[in-house]
Parts: sequence; C-alpha cells; structure tokens
Amino acid sequence: MIKVLFVCLGNICRSPMGEFVLKDIVKRNNMEELFIIKSAGTSNEELGNPVYYLAKEKLMEHGISCEGKYAETLNIFDYDKYDYILAMERKNVVDIKRIFEGDINNKVYRLLDFTNDPHDIKDPWYTRDFESTYEDILKGCLAFFEYIKLKLE
Ligand code: 4NP
Repeated sequence: MIKVLFVCLGNICRSPMGEFVLKDIVKRNNMEELFIIKSAGTSNEELGNPVYYLAKEKLMEHGISCEGKYAETLNIFDYDKYDYILAMERKNVVDIKRIFEGDINNKVYRLLDFTNDPHDIKDPWYTRDFESTYEDILKGCLAFFEYIKLKLE
C-alpha cells in the first residue's frame, strides 16, 4: 500500500486538487487498491470547510468530483500514517517539518520536485489563477505517479 498525503496551507484549494487529481490518475490505471490518498492543511483556518468553489469547478471541468471532502488540519500523528507527504511550496515544507518535529524518514517532498521543472505551486487563493494551479498539480501528480510506478517495477 502506498499512502500519500497532499498538504497545503488551507486544505481548500491546492492539496484537495492534488488528492483528487492523483486519485483520478490511479483510477484510470486500475491501481486504486494500491493507494491511500488524502490531504490536509498546515493551518486550521479552514477546518471543516468544503473545497473552495473555484477549485471544485476547475476539477469538474476535468470530470473530477471532490464531493465529501472537508478541510482537515495536519497533526503529528499523520507522520506515521503516510509514506509520502507532498507539499505545494517550500513554506509548506517548513510548516510540515515544524508540525512533525522534523522528517527523520525523509517523507516530505515538494510536489513539483518530481518534475523536470521544480518550483512552488502558487496559492490560487491569492493569484485567482486556478487554471495554472491545475496544470502544475497535474504535472506534479503525473510525475509522482511515474516515480511510484518505477519503484513498483
Ligand atoms: P490552499 O489555499 O492553501 O491552497 O488551500 C488557501 C486557502 C485559504 C487561505 C489560504 C490559502 N486562507 O488564508 O484562508
């Protein structure tokens, strides 16, 4: 079982997009039974809130539903529950390591570091550019999925 947790700040835009885009890729490849995929935020500001409507609409444009997802907050117990903790930007990585009191097993990655164009995924809450966010997340999820497939071979 490969256990993946996407993490952003609020868990209402980028990390739920990552969660549901990767779930969609895994489903299309008939590998659902091999993965557990979830998401959380480093802040508790949005705790319990649904996915932000513009993120939800962007996913729906691609036939991806995120129904039933409500924001959760990252906590120290998540460290042992997951194999890969996928952050959206460097600031998330810093916050994640603070919450986990380190990263002794090297589980924390920045999502686009799996691609050949590593960079932060900007926060669409501020940029309002959900299309660029979706494209970045799709690239990152595809690259991460290829990385896992190679490891499984
Ligand atoms: P996210 O976006 O980290 O991609 O979920 C944000 C959502 C809400 C806030 C910040 C970022 N906020 O400050 O409320």
